[in-house]
Amino acid sequence: MDNQPRVYSSLPQEEHNAMHNTNVVVKAKGPYVWMDDDTEPYIDFVMGYSTSNFGHLNDDILTAFSSLTSDNVVFFISKEREELIQKFGKALGLDGNWNFYFPVGGSMAVEAAARACLLAKPDGVLLSFVGAFHGYGGVSRVLTDRAFLKSDVFMESAKSIKSPRPLDLGSDELALKALEDNLKNNVVAGLFIEPVQGASGFNDFGATFLKGVRELCTKYDVPMVCDEIQSSMFRCGSLMVCLSRSVVPDIMLVGKSFGGGVVPISAVIMSNEIAKKLPIDHAAFDSTFSGWTVGVSVALKTLSLIEKNDFAKDVEVKGKLVDKILDEELTTSELRARVRRVGLAIAFDGKDSDESERLRLEMMSNHVIIQTSGVDGSKCKLSPAITIPEDVLESGIRKFAVAVKKVVAN
Ligand SMILES: Cc1ncc(COP(=O)(O)O)c(C=O)c1O
Repeated sequence: MDNQPRVYSSLPQEEHNAMHNTNVVVKAKGPYVWMDDDTEPYIDFVMGYSTSNFGHLNDDILTAFSSLTSDNVVFFISKEREELIQKFGKALGLDGNWNFYFPVGGSMAVEAAARACLLAKPDGVLLSFVGAFHGYGGVSRVLTDRAFLKSDVFMESAKSIKSPRPLDLGSDELALKALEDNLKNNVVAGLFIEPVQGASGFNDFGATFLKGVRELCTKYDVPMVCDEIQSSMFRCGSLMVCLSRSVVPDIMLVGKSFGGGVVPISAVIMSNEIAKKLPIDHAAFDSTFSGWTVGVSVALKTLSLIEKNDFAKDVEVKGKLVDKILDEELTTSELRARVRRVGLAIAFDGKDSDESERLRLEMMSNHVIIQTSGVDGSKCKLSPAITIPEDVLESGIRKFAVAVKKVVAN
């Protein structure tokens, strides 16, 4: 045994595949990361897949750890958890008719929402959209577009149908008609929608479609679940996309940057209407670390940071800067139209996975990290820290525009 080699490996992970196991990150701060073999930092336009919207190891958020004292409760229903409920409800501008649950990680939040829907309609199916990504858990996996899941063993854990998007049918009207047919012809227990689809390449459903979905959910008495695990926390310019578009769903899901980039904590925010249908016993809204104090304390710091700053304004200003650089550099309308933006969620529509991978590698050689994305890998996503200094953003986006021209020309 003693003579065995001792270099161990990680199990295959999608994230590693997307980055082709290129380098190991040894240090991260603000908008930058440092790789093992290099002293020059890389501008990070992935930010832990929108987990670190407020910059890597944000100093304000890190104070959550040093301010923990022996007066804090570590587990169970703590005073800190109650404080978070009140503070988050207020930040979202909700009235008192809402209920909160804080699981660990996004997929667990999706599972909890699906469970709430299915407890009310056990024979129902769950509905999500083409291109959806709701996680790799059991039921969250069922809601995810099959194209993301090459090998699967969980598909039968709940029944689901996928409705086409405006993007697939060419108009809001046709997609709403298809959705209405689905709601009419099936017993739908819950409808899951990412107002701006994350993994499939920042596809924005738009306000009109979202409002139409809300109306249909009300008409057919189907809970509307907005999965904003990736789109919230100012990635797309607002705390929550749905609320900024005057759409109030029945359940909202938040994750990723809610934990400030340093702990896994998500939130399920559920209206009284849905919550009152849940059984008091055995509703199973519990796992050991749900609502744990370290997670809750960090989320409280995230909310304080949001209170202290005008991130909506910052994203608006930085978004305009991105547009200005892209307009200057990408002078043909065909090329310019291939770069889309919602807030600081920026996507490039490659013609295939080879083109998007070449763009990723070109950017890597320029010390900017972006990710390939989409059900077929043909997109690139750029998710800069929303706290990124403007000159760093400008330099990264200019390199991106130059790289787009080079890659598309070859
Ligand atoms: C919209 C959305 N929902 C759910 C998830 C799953 O979250 P997690 O990976 O934290 O389980 C993700 C992750 O990327 C996501 O983007």
